[in-house]
Amino acid sequence: MGRLEGYAALVTGGGKGIGRAVVDRFVAEGADVGVLVRSESDAKKLIDQHGRSVVPILGDVRNWKDNQRAVKAVIDRFGKLDTLIPNAGIYDFSDKFEDISGVDLTEKYRQFFDVNVLGYLLAARAGLEALKESQGSIIFTLSSSSFFAGGGGTLYVSSKHALIGTVKQLAFELAPEIRVNAVAPGGTRTGLGGLPGDKRELTEIAGFEAMVSKAIPLGFLSEPEDHAGLYVTLANKQDSRFVTSEIIRSDGGIEVRGGGRRNKQEKKEKK
Ligand SMILES: NC(=O)c1ccc[n+]([C@@H]2O[C@H](COP(=O)([O-])OP(=O)(O)OC[C@H]3O[C@@H](n4cnc5c(N)ncnc54)[C@H](O)[C@@H]3O)[C@@H](O)[C@H]2O)c1
Repeated sequence: MGRLEGYAALVTGGGKGIGRAVVDRFVAEGADVGVLVRSESDAKKLIDQHGRSVVPILGDVRNWKDNQRAVKAVIDRFGKLDTLIPNAGIYDFSDKFEDISGVDLTEKYRQFFDVNVLGYLLAARAGLEALKESQGSIIFTLSSSSFFAGGGGTLYVSSKHALIGTVKQLAFELAPEIRVNAVAPGGTRTGLGGLPGDKRELTEIAGFEAMVSKAIPLGFLSEPEDHAGLYVTLANKQDSRFVTSEIIRSDGGIEVRGGGRRNKQEKKEKK
């Protein structure tokens, strides 16, 4: 028996990266999953791997109607919605604040916050009634950039910080019917991209893996699969019955960076 047997979930941005790893793990644990994706090829790959356990919905998280369609598709196919995972996001590649002109700032701010914050709110709003009915939960993907500076630029870091307030306020307003929690990954090997037209991808940043590995006590860049089990635990209605407004960090211990024994070991080896 999987830990999510009989559950129905919806993951946004689940065609790739962390979202895709969550979809794969949820299906392995017995869940049926709707997946909001941007491309036909991601939709096809999901169906090729998971068949009727998934229902891909092509759409854009910034669009209210696409979020509504995604929730409806899950209910039409699986009869209910137990777990909603707003996860789709974009990155700013640590672009420096002083390099964004005042003229460009308004538009860039809107673009980042539309995907990273509004996209989460629209998904949550679209899923509300169904989640109330199932006594379900929302699990947002946050980031180590929800807590710390330096892992992105001002627009990324501020948009991810805004999500802490989102988790807390929704946990407050939607209790007791809906639990609201989050997983906050640190550096993860994915193709996380930027604004439309920006061809950069996270793991193509020169020295990215070395930089992340060095900055955290556990000393490695995580894989998307490393976070997926935490979503399972938060989704599970028995294991997390008493858990709401919780943000589980899955970031290699970035808060205690400095690296304790590992750095001492490295220094010893250098001598
Ligand atoms: N990779 C990391 O190091 C890292 C660390 C912390 C948090 N995160 C967060 O994890 C989440 C997933 O990112 P990832 O690293 O797996 O990257 P990813 O690029 O593999 O996944 C992001 C997904 O979101 C989708 N997406 C982007 N804009 C969208 C839109 N407007 N409408 C619909 N879908 C859209 C993309 O198509 C993609 O499938 C993001 O919220 C990101 O901020 C990533």
